[in-house]
Amino acid sequence: MKIQSLETEVPKDLEKQLKGYDLQKVNIGWSSSEIYKLSDDKKPNLFLKINNFSNDLFFNHEYEMLKWLKDKISVPDIIYQSKNVNSEFLLLTEIPGNVSYKVYSKSDIETNLKILAKGLQSFHSLPIEGCPNSVNTDEMIQHAEQRLEQGLINSKNFDVRWKHKTPYELFDDVKRLEPKRIDIVVTHGDYCLPNVIIDNAELSGFVDLGSAGLNDRYYDLAAVSWSISYNFGVKWVPFFFENYGINNHEIDTEKILFYQILNEFIEF
Ligand SMILES: Nc1ncnc2c1ncn2[C@@H]1O[C@H](COP(=O)(O)OP(=O)(O)OP(=O)(O)O)[C@@H](O)[C@H]1O
Ligand SMILES: [Mg+2]
Repeated sequence: MKIQSLETEVPKDLEKQLKGYDLQKVNIGWSSSEIYKLSDDKKPNLFLKINNFSNDLFFNHEYEMLKWLKDKISVPDIIYQSKNVNSEFLLLTEIPGNVSYKVYSKSDIETNLKILAKGLQSFHSLPIEGCPNSVNTDEMIQHAEQRLEQGLINSKNFDVRWKHKTPYELFDDVKRLEPKRIDIVVTHGDYCLPNVIIDNAELSGFVDLGSAGLNDRYYDLAAVSWSISYNFGVKWVPFFFENYGINNHEIDTEKILFYQILNEFIEF
């Protein structure tokens, strides 16, 4: 039993379920979560996700959204869930395959971008009735402003495009770019390449649903644009949009910028 390698103490009933598994920490630590891959020769792999809360956390809806999305779209099944004041513990089934940034050729990039575009369309086409989480842009802006005023924003962590700005200067851009129209759909909430799993050139499923819920479709489009640029290069972004169903000249670049900049002020 290797549960000693967990950074956070887990509840006793969960500890029992981890017996016999090898644990390997897998996440890169951009979020405040800990994720472990659990393997055992005789059983299917599982993932343990520990979402650590802080007072600042704006998004924290993984359990509710996983339950609601089950049977609608391919997401992990929940084997176990519990919460205490500091953390939420989720034991999840594995979505088999590879993260969508893993490619070996130009044709793999094209294949994966087509899958990513279709995958996002299928999210954005879900009926919105009964969705247990909703993200309001005004509330996000208020939350961002509070964090700014509390001195929690460090421009050292900003994207290279606006690293030269102070947090207050960048927040002026948030207000300047604030969208006039919001186009509500069911969003993934963190639609970046590591959160989409592809198996044998087909969509296998989506992970990391703590920020999912009703939101502007451009919340996801901004995230995926950034992630495509980061992983494959900015020249691939129009190819994605075309496959999603938005022509190059119709891309709302201001809205993309708005959500990318707003995210600089939010803790995940
Ligand atoms: N159920 C699952 N099935 C398959 N892979 C998973 C599963 N859960 C997590 N993963 C893998 O672990 C990675 C991290 O998990 P997740 O995206 O949920 O956490 P995170 O909050 O993004 O972590 P960080 O931002 O710190 O990397 C995913 O990108 C994926 O590769
Ligand atoms: Mg993730």
